[in-house]
Amino acid sequence: MFVCMCYNVTDKDIAKAVSQQGVGNIRELKQQLQLGEQCGKCISMAQALIDDLIIDEGLFKDVG
Ligand code: FES
Repeated sequence: MFVCMCYNVTDKDIAKAVSQQGVGNIRELKQQLQLGEQCGKCISMAQALIDDLIIDEGLFKDVG
């Protein structure tokens, strides 16, 4: 699924940045991926995805 239409960034791209690059917020995400600099509509969805991914990873670590 595309999160940022302007730069063709997908939810998988963001998931990879969070899990492999340790991205934890929009500022860090923008350092890894180009997004949010055109219309800005993707920012809130990208932030929600980062939050969900971090919560998921936290749960995974607790279980492990
Ligand atoms: S959808 Fe990301 S900047 Fe427009």
